[in-house]
Amino acid sequence: MKIFQSVNIAGITFRNRIIRSATYEGMCDEKGFPTARYYASYETLAKADVGGIITGFAYVSKEGRAMQSAQAGIDAPDKIPFFRKLTDRIHRYGCPVILQIAHTGRQTIGHVTGLPVKGASSKRSVYFREKTVPYQTREIYGVINKFTDAVSYAREAGFDGVQIHAAHGYLVHQFLLPGNNNRKDEFGIDPETGIGSAFLEGIIRSVRKRCGSDYPVFVKVSGGIGDEKHFNIDRFTSLIRILNRIQVDAIEISYGTMDNPFNIFRGEMPVNLILAKNPFFKTHNPVRKLLNKAIIDLWFRKRTLPFSHGYNLQYAALAKTLTDIPVIVVGGFRNPVEIEQALSSGKADMVSLSRPFVAEPDIVLKMKNDWNYQSLCKNCNYCAVMCDSGEPTKCYKF
Ligand SMILES: Cc1cc2nc3c(=O)[nH]c(=O)nc-3n(C[C@H](O)[C@H](O)[C@H](O)COP(=O)(O)O)c2cc1C
Ligand code: SF4
Repeated sequence: MKIFQSVNIAGITFRNRIIRSATYEGMCDEKGFPTARYYASYETLAKADVGGIITGFAYVSKEGRAMQSAQAGIDAPDKIPFFRKLTDRIHRYGCPVILQIAHTGRQTIGHVTGLPVKGASSKRSVYFREKTVPYQTREIYGVINKFTDAVSYAREAGFDGVQIHAAHGYLVHQFLLPGNNNRKDEFGIDPETGIGSAFLEGIIRSVRKRCGSDYPVFVKVSGGIGDEKHFNIDRFTSLIRILNRIQVDAIEISYGTMDNPFNIFRGEMPVNLILAKNPFFKTHNPVRKLLNKAIIDLWFRKRTLPFSHGYNLQYAALAKTLTDIPVIVVGGFRNPVEIEQALSSGKADMVSLSRPFVAEPDIVLKMKNDWNYQSLCKNCNYCAVMCDSGEPTKCYKF
């Protein structure tokens, strides 16, 4: 049995094969500094035998902030001592911690960041709908530098490694996708691979040069985006081959973009909560409300895939045939039997969970005590919708 076996990845010892996938916390101050609640929530997880932790996404620059004002930031050296406090508290329990670093690109709101929204191209996100200014070539080198600075701060703060967020439609993903990246410069789509990997490769090269090639760099990718015309299995295969060529330290496989977030966290789409809390859909006007409900039902729901157990496992299994780099799979794992099947069938090296840890930070202990344990998470997605409400992330069912 593999599930509770420790595993060493790039010098990091994970205590077992169940890790916490990045989950936005909503527990930092408006400048991106951790608060007492942020520290406490991670201490709770670390105490409860989770194999290892990947933090929620932390922005690398103010331009790349999310629309949620309580997001963590790793954009300046004055943050280092505050994150050092976090890594010390987590390490006390023998738990490794990886910082997820991200730039939102077009998936944010200009009046929140106070800066123009910039991306790989001028194409707007259908969800965020913000006017997007394409980055000029020379500016892209500046963004690569911001990612590199962030990794150097993370290393100094004692993180065991970083994870570059190249999934879910954020900036790195925007460059990868041919449906979005129409650039004609060196950061455009490579006709041979069909994807735009130069930005991601540039970040990793720069990080290795500055922080050393032994500092662990994980990458989170999306196996598909629900649009075969623009990102199919051949392009996913190209992406894994590139990650294999540049030898990242681990690949986590998720799905989708924030243009259709319920394909990332599959399950229910709580329409009334969206109409009450989501900044793009909430309104007091009854006519507008009906219209917004129709948009959700007719546009978003039509493009949403149903929840199934381990719903990204097929992509992980394919990745395992293409590389020896450790593969982590996230999405829809809810009990130890399914996790063990994914591991012992060789389809993944580790399994990561997000919502089950929101519902029960001690779920690994419960699984250790009961082989038939089933997560209490009902995939109602209240926690996901409430990320936009200003409230810290928590489970709304228990
Ligand atoms: C409340 C919430 C916050 C999330 N925040 C992040 C994040 O910061 N970075 C990220 O890569 N994924 C994030 N995700 C996606 C999860 O990491 C995961 O890919 C997805 O929820 C599917 O896994 P699950 O079925 O175990 O929840 C978030 C999901 C939820 C529900
Ligand atoms: S609110 Fe609770 S039950 Fe609902 S999806 Fe989130 S963690 Fe699961």
